Amino acid sequence: MNAKCLVTGAAGFIGSHLIDRLLGRGAVVLGIDNMKLGRRANLAKALENPRFKFVEQDVNDVPGVTNLVAAESKDAPFDVAWHMAANSDIRSGVTDSDVDLRDTFLSTHNLLKVLREHKIPQLAFASSSAIYGVHPGLLHENLGPLFPISNYGAMKLASEASISAALEAYLKRVWIFRFPNVVGSRSTHGVIYDFAQKLKKNPSELEVLGDGSQEKPYLHVNDLLDAMLFVTDHATASLNFFNIGTTDSATTVRYIAEAVVKRQSPGAQIRYTGGNKGWVGDVPKFNYSIDKLKKLGWNPRLTSNQAVDRAVAEIVAEVTLQTT
Ligand SMILES: NC(=O)c1ccc[n+]([C@@H]2O[C@H](COP(=O)([O-])OP(=O)(O)OC[C@H]3O[C@@H](n4cnc5c(N)ncnc54)[C@H](O)[C@@H]3O)[C@@H](O)[C@H]2O)c1
Repeated sequence: MNAKCLVTGAAGFIGSHLIDRLLGRGAVVLGIDNMKLGRRANLAKALENPRFKFVEQDVNDVPGVTNLVAAESKDAPFDVAWHMAANSDIRSGVTDSDVDLRDTFLSTHNLLKVLREHKIPQLAFASSSAIYGVHPGLLHENLGPLFPISNYGAMKLASEASISAALEAYLKRVWIFRFPNVVGSRSTHGVIYDFAQKLKKNPSELEVLGDGSQEKPYLHVNDLLDAMLFVTDHATASLNFFNIGTTDSATTVRYIAEAVVKRQSPGAQIRYTGGNKGWVGDVPKFNYSIDKLKKLGWNPRLTSNQAVDRAVAEIVAEVTLQTT
């Protein structure tokens, strides 16, 4: 099913890793990204592959994407679209809700128009644990009613709803992946990346929002991609939706702060701002059920703490080398 793929959010953290994996499986890939958060450097390896083409293109420019897909469909139609583009900066959506409306919801709505126009039958979508809002206990796929507490989560949930309607009308198959916090090399955002950037500016002190007790599962990007490809290979219903995560483990912000300090700037003071939330819209604690994914036959390789340890090494190395 991965023969010819359109990937949105191609130059971002997860999109660029996804493209490397799809190319590794022999796919032909067209990647688009508006470069708001993406980095061309993330695509350095993919750009060497003749089966890959990258175009700087906003998903919300429907005529632009339609023309591009028409031009690239001349030899063979696209089999699947992987929709990774979104506003991944959840905090920016708190101050300006239009950001999530545009890049997280309308990007889905507008991409669906292109899939309909070009009869692209399958869609794989990057959703999020943020759709669940705050719930005690394990988050599993059949939980409801769902009341997200961030605009980002609201727009991901609205995207899932639009995709469901499109499935009824014209799509043949969809895979909705509800990611937890994903970490690893090429990060463009996230708690480890933020801490590394802060320490680069001030190597003697690290300010941490909250009291360090916020606790969430972190998944390494390699495990995430293994899971997504496993699911698209094995889940053959028309509507497939899965939490992807680690097994029953989560990591505190305190653990992450200490790991980044130890690796990047040993001896730096950690200053907690207090309170149990990082920012408005932050879900301070959650635990994911991945029983459905395990039943399908997939298990993560790393625990949450192991994923964090590996990502800290990768991200600190990248951030300390970056010149901007
Ligand atoms: N990283 C995580 O922890 C995490 C968790 C849950 C869900 N997700 C979802 O996974 C996907 C990938 O996230 P990421 O961490 O790689 O973020 P990212 O910001 O690195 O990648 C998203 C990319 O989409 C691009 N983009 C945004 N709006 C666009 C538009 N209108 N047109 C074209 N390109 C656009 C950005 O420039 C960026 O390169 C996103 O949908 C995100 O919401 C990520």
